[in-house]
Amino acid sequence: MSETVHVGAPTRHDSAVGHVTGTARYTDDLPLPAGCLHLAFGLSEVAHGTITKLDLEAVKEAPGVVAVLTVDDLPAANDVSPSVHDEPLLADGTVHYVGQPVFLVVATSHLAARKAATLGRVDITPLPALLTIDAALAAGSQFEAPLTFARGAAELALSKATHRLSGTMEIGGQEHFYLEGQAAAAEPGEDGDMLVHSSTQHPSEIQHKVAEALGQPFNTVRVSVRRMGGGFGGKESQGNALAVACAVAARATGRPCKMRYDRDDDMVITGKRHDLRIAYEVGFDAEGRIEALDVEHFVRCGWAQDLSLPVADRAMLHADNAYYLPNVRIRSHRLRTNTQSATAFRGFGGPQGLVGMERIIDHIAAELGRDPLNVRRVNFYGPPGSKDRVTTPYHMEVEDCVIADMVEELAASSDYAARRKEIADYNAGSPILKRGIALTPVKFGISFTLSHLNQAGALVHVYTDGSIHLNHGGTEMGQGLNTKVAQVAAEAFGQPLDAVRITATDTGKVPNTSATAASSGSDLNGMAAKAACDTIRDRLNAFAAERWQVQPDQIAYAGGMVTIGSETLPFAELVQSAYQARIQLSATGFYATPKIKWDRFKGQGRPFFYFAYGAAVTEVIVDTLTGENRILQADILHDVGRSLNPAIDIGQVEGGYVQGAGWLTTEELVWDDQGRLRTHAPSTYKIPACSDRPKSFTVRLWDKGRNREETIYRSKAVGEPPFMLGTSAFLALSDALAQARSDRYPALDAPATAERLLTALTAP
Ligand code: MTE
Ligand code: MOS
Repeated sequence: MSETVHVGAPTRHDSAVGHVTGTARYTDDLPLPAGCLHLAFGLSEVAHGTITKLDLEAVKEAPGVVAVLTVDDLPAANDVSPSVHDEPLLADGTVHYVGQPVFLVVATSHLAARKAATLGRVDITPLPALLTIDAALAAGSQFEAPLTFARGAAELALSKATHRLSGTMEIGGQEHFYLEGQAAAAEPGEDGDMLVHSSTQHPSEIQHKVAEALGQPFNTVRVSVRRMGGGFGGKESQGNALAVACAVAARATGRPCKMRYDRDDDMVITGKRHDLRIAYEVGFDAEGRIEALDVEHFVRCGWAQDLSLPVADRAMLHADNAYYLPNVRIRSHRLRTNTQSATAFRGFGGPQGLVGMERIIDHIAAELGRDPLNVRRVNFYGPPGSKDRVTTPYHMEVEDCVIADMVEELAASSDYAARRKEIADYNAGSPILKRGIALTPVKFGISFTLSHLNQAGALVHVYTDGSIHLNHGGTEMGQGLNTKVAQVAAEAFGQPLDAVRITATDTGKVPNTSATAASSGSDLNGMAAKAACDTIRDRLNAFAAERWQVQPDQIAYAGGMVTIGSETLPFAELVQSAYQARIQLSATGFYATPKIKWDRFKGQGRPFFYFAYGAAVTEVIVDTLTGENRILQADILHDVGRSLNPAIDIGQVEGGYVQGAGWLTTEELVWDDQGRLRTHAPSTYKIPACSDRPKSFTVRLWDKGRNREETIYRSKAVGEPPFMLGTSAFLALSDALAQARSDRYPALDAPATAERLLTALTAP
């Protein structure tokens, strides 16, 4: 491949300065027309019940209140679900969780709306509330029949295996804790038009839900998203309620309306990562090579379906992680409970499945008294070109498994073997403080498993001064998508990066888009933008070839200039001439991912275009008297193919690792026996702080990385995979426990909070 100038350069995020100086605008910062009103929801305080009486007199009389809406005031569809229309905007007779919106207050200020919302009197006759996995199982409360993926004969092979083990593990959920909370605004226009600003990963879905709520066609609603202050999956569907509320209130009052959740409300109302129980039975040989595995996932989905089915599917699709399982059965139960409707969160179920598998490997190693790394090594999928040990539990062949090479490289560069020995020596002489280490791999499938979502569009204009205006269907949430797509466009025209301007994602510019999710933002939108740029460049080439009488291959674009045969002129000059000659300087581009197909009921097909890989070594220290602990060192090697932007990719890997480690260590969600979330603010819910990052933190992108598939410049998706590198922190804690007491396997549940570590250390 020819050399690139912009693609592959460690360019800073295009909003970096805006982010740190505070000039980058978020939805709540947008100046809105005069007379803007503010909204707040009145919430259910009961986990399950029937509404018998709604007394909103005090709300209506509160200062600043302009209107109060209930289900009876809605003009059309009462639905904000991204899937099966089971999620009303406002409760319709029944409430299903503590925090469910029941009525909507429209007031002259944010504070007035919030204060008034607390004055509603909602009488509810309680119904039995299912809060836990066990309660839902006992009641048979599930969204669909359990799903099974299988290959080989798991039960038979288990009965014949040399060694057998079984166990269970509880894996907690996770609050997204995007720094910018959910927010939306709506401006009514003429003839029923509605302009919506939303902090969303999915502008097209906001457009659809708003249009349905207003009872209007999609073409009357335009949705604009400049950026989010973090989404992490929590803004795939959870912004629907705010956008629809704003539009409905704007229609009712004729005035612009805006809504943002206060942090506590955000945590109480919106869905989180699914928590999960994993039960396993595994058979293996004397080296730890797995002969058979039977795994069961019990997924707590909350009250509405939302994205739970594909999330639970992806957990199953990552129940193998990087390991070949000759005989395997994976079963999954999708349980309906009276809690927040669990939703997408970085990895989309994959992390839960993967952590389960890593726990199984760790358990096998403990049973055999072997280094867990050696057990991992003997179980990896075969390398590229292998005929054997390449078939997944869902019958897709893994053609690109580079994990064995990467793990050897990382084990060497991080000095794993010597450090393991040094740690054992240290622990032998240290009765209170114990250190632990773990190296864990990641293999993550790239593509939406709903195959038709793997498409994207772009719109590119070249103006007559040579400047380039670009829109694509993806959204910017801090991950650097706009920067990467701008690099692709600048490359296509040989222009400096600042000649390319990307503005707010807009349903009026690029229609029918998929959510920016599944890590596929740059894969899809990078390709669509390149297609649009190539179309314009082909037109310019044809024009120049005729005007200058050269062959198209004698035309080159670089350094802001165009070389045409023996002549070199500024890009803007060529563009001017082309304009004069009436050449079209605007184009759309489109991309659809090839090769994929998937049948989720059969559990067969090729759900993923390719896999992303990475590995991490984490070393921790635990105080065995308190459970308090620190990450001392983390070393990461991650494969992003040929990086589009190494600075941004390293940022994604660092952030992903820390967020993943937070999920499995300190971030604990606690509900009481009434179904109330007790951890709904940073005072009680502990995300990692700066001081919690590893004291020594080395992240390297794999220099042999190159996508075997024809992706944009042979890069690989990077958004979600590094999240799962945090698993090494969890298993390093488990290792420290095992070194503190050797009488039994620690069998840690997640998150491994200090309390949980202490319990594991002191339990009889
Ligand atoms: N990085 C930042 N800074 N903020 C985010 O919200 N979301 C993650 C990941 N990295 C996120 C992020 C998730 S869940 C996904 S799916 C991808 O980014 C989405 O963007 P991409 O497809 O462009 O990688
Ligand atoms: Mo990411 S969970 O796919 O938004």
